[in-house]
Amino acid sequence: MARLKLGILISGRGSNLQALIDACAAPEFPAEIAIVVSNRPEAGGLDRARQAGIEGVVIDHREFGDRATFERELIAALDQRGVELVCLAGFMRLLTPTFVDRWRDRLINIHPSLLPAFRGLHSDERAIDSGVRFSGCTVHFVRPEMDDGPIVIQAAVPVLPGDDADALSARILEAEHRIYPAAVRLIAEGRARIVDERVVIEGEHAPVGTAFNPPA
Ligand code: GRF
Repeated sequence: MARLKLGILISGRGSNLQALIDACAAPEFPAEIAIVVSNRPEAGGLDRARQAGIEGVVIDHREFGDRATFERELIAALDQRGVELVCLAGFMRLLTPTFVDRWRDRLINIHPSLLPAFRGLHSDERAIDSGVRFSGCTVHFVRPEMDDGPIVIQAAVPVLPGDDADALSARILEAEHRIYPAAVRLIAEGRARIVDERVVIEGEHAPVGTAFNPPA
């Protein structure tokens, strides 16, 4: 079976990109990375792509007069490589509705909170400040509103006594590295479908048990 062609958009260190690179290295994984695009030339993720022998391209938003021209360049780069699913992995530019609609249901994002809680930046800090006992991460299809759209997978991660934003972020990041490849697999296998703006997963198993924090 042909593997689904991914285009990964990054702006920074690219640890989620690495998780996807590692997953795609397994011959039975149903997707492959056709291109990595960074809007920042200094993004560490570009080295990860290079080391894996994957094409990494810089499309620097500062070189374009407006968002529309920048996004046209992005779309051209993705189209030229036959990309079928675009994965945002720490991509720090807001995308216009034109871009999002162009890739409707073929564009996913990972966010470090249990959406719809804590959309936007500094979600770890805000989770700690709010006193929630669980935060986590979410892979979702992208809609024009920021950090909005049908949810594919979430992981719940406990907030522990004494956590600062870095400690919580590191714990959440480990879960991100598991759920992003898992979400891509579900989509690539055609097992995650959007019905009435919710994701229906074919052959889904119920998760085991309920998590309590503190244990009850
Ligand atoms: C991750 O926490 C991701 O959820 C968020 O940006 C961060 C990117 O980290 N969207 P990395 O570049 O993948 O290491």
